[in-house]
Amino acid sequence: MKNLFAFLKKNKVMSNEINLDMSKIPKHIAIIMDGNGRWAKERNLPRAFGHKAGVEAIRKIVKECDRLGVKYLTLYAFSTENWNRPIKEVDSLMKLLVEYLKKEVEELNVNDVVVNSIGNISKLPLICREELNNAYEKTRNNKGLILNLALNYGGRSEIVDAVKEISSDLINKKISKDQINEELFSKYLYTSEMPDPDLIIRPSGELRLSNFLLWQGAYSELWFSDINWPDFHEKQLQSAIMDYQKRDRRFGKVK
Ligand code: FPP
Repeated sequence: MKNLFAFLKKNKVMSNEINLDMSKIPKHIAIIMDGNGRWAKERNLPRAFGHKAGVEAIRKIVKECDRLGVKYLTLYAFSTENWNRPIKEVDSLMKLLVEYLKKEVEELNVNDVVVNSIGNISKLPLICREELNNAYEKTRNNKGLILNLALNYGGRSEIVDAVKEISSDLINKKISKDQINEELFSKYLYTSEMPDPDLIIRPSGELRLSNFLLWQGAYSELWFSDINWPDFHEKQLQSAIMDYQKRDRRFGKVK
């Protein structure tokens, strides 16, 4: 009986869930967590309430990714453009980040999750940097899901930063021009040690990438849904993975 259960778990997710092929779970899922503001507006609530509800969705989706065996989950939490929002909203997002890290780090650690971040973190308030650093130090040796929080992240500025670093390594003769290729370039990105996302999810009905993982997303499968991020639950994630499993990924080749 135990063996049968282990077999089923390995090959399919059971019970009332969508049947997923457990041998084809995407290794890296990236999510643009959009629609918090609209979720709040529909309920006549201030936008900050939408972000707060968005944190609940994060909790669920992190757990579900972990359970399904996803290795990397990258969440677009704050873009380089989000600084242009009203200061009150920016402050509430920073506070939520600190709260989330303080509250969740122990449980994430117990669940073997690594809390990592990508983006230009140096521009975040000190308290955010401290909590991020604390969470990373606590969890860095874990072997489970790698939770990547994209903070002050912009795909274009990531590429510009990489070009700057490559130029300085060229000038300092650490690398030669002939060594520059796609593989080397990838190593200069915030995601240097990670595989490219297999699946990029965007809820809330918007059909664009909004400066997210521009280089890494070259061959990602895209999945959109009309649901706002706070209403994005395990079922939606499973649907996205189910659709992903039906896609024919050719990477420009002919099969
Ligand atoms: C986009 O929705 C969402 C954001 C800019 C912030 C996402 C942040 C969280 C879910 C919570 C804080 C993060 C962590 C990691 C604890 P929007 O505000 O643009 O929604 P709208 O398009 O409906 O206005």
